[in-house]
Amino acid sequence: MSETTNPVPDEYRAVEGAMPGTAGPGRRRELMSFVRRSSRLDKRLQKAWDAYAGEYLLELPEYEHRELSIAPDFRFDADFAARTWGNDHPLVVEIGTGQGENIVAAAQERPETNFLALEVYKPGVAHALLKAGKYELRNLRVCEVNAPDLMKAAVDGLFDEVWTFFPDPWPKTKHHKRRIVQPALAAEVHRALRSGGVWRIATDIEDYALHVHEVMDGRDDFENVGDVTVSLPTEHVSKGTADMAAQLPHADFAESERFAGRVLTNFEKKGITAGRVIHDFTYRAV
Ligand SMILES: C[S@@+](CC[C@H](N)C(=O)[O-])C[C@H]1O[C@@H](n2cnc3c(N)ncnc32)[C@H](O)[C@@H]1O
Repeated sequence: MSETTNPVPDEYRAVEGAMPGTAGPGRRRELMSFVRRSSRLDKRLQKAWDAYAGEYLLELPEYEHRELSIAPDFRFDADFAARTWGNDHPLVVEIGTGQGENIVAAAQERPETNFLALEVYKPGVAHALLKAGKYELRNLRVCEVNAPDLMKAAVDGLFDEVWTFFPDPWPKTKHHKRRIVQPALAAEVHRALRSGGVWRIATDIEDYALHVHEVMDGRDDFENVGDVTVSLPTEHVSKGTADMAAQLPHADFAESERFAGRVLTNFEKKGITAGRVIHDFTYRAV
């Protein structure tokens, strides 16, 4: 199956040099935020998959030419959501759920809200299914899909919140365009959010924080509602030059307090242990 990312820092798994499918009939042409990885499940995860996929895996009509994509005519609308969750509660979507740590905790905490976890890495999906089954959650579904394709399939105003926590950093300059937070995704997230709904983003990579500000702060369809002032370099660093960031010119940016609904995942823990600062962002759809 697929995963991400570039090797710095270590906890973001290394797939140095790997590239997604090349152009050709039926192959992806656009740059993806992940690269292919093994979809093999170990015994425990296969058992979890067999036990819980029926209940928790959200299977959508696939686009036959593009793995992890959705049939172009499929619309994720309120009726589909009501059939899937059995109610019309607010819906929160997590892009790149990893092993589901955050969304499972949130679903336990907030039974009156529906949650949808999006992930391309099959073992991650299996972990999320395992946790959903263990806690007998009724309000969570997990979808093995390229998240931007799911956003495109969603009708206007369907989602209450969208979360993107610790996206793969893609530290090399030539790979920054693979970072999942991009203007095109922002436009789709904005369309899919209800008015006043929020896109929450968090990263422990300073250069990604600058990237988020560059993509998001100038948009007139989102308002940065953060009230914490953070000083960041105004120029990008790349893999190997991150140490030079402190010497670069800095400017102040608005960020948010740590989102109380975010639990400490392994990714965040490792970032903190390595001395990295966590950046939280809240962008409200206007
Ligand atoms: C660094 S991990 C962070 C996981 C989780 N959010 C956390 O905080 O623990 C980033 C995750 O995003 C997933 N991902 C990357 N691109 C994706 C895409 N286009 N659609 C869905 N998931 C994606 C990766 O497979 C990976 O599991």
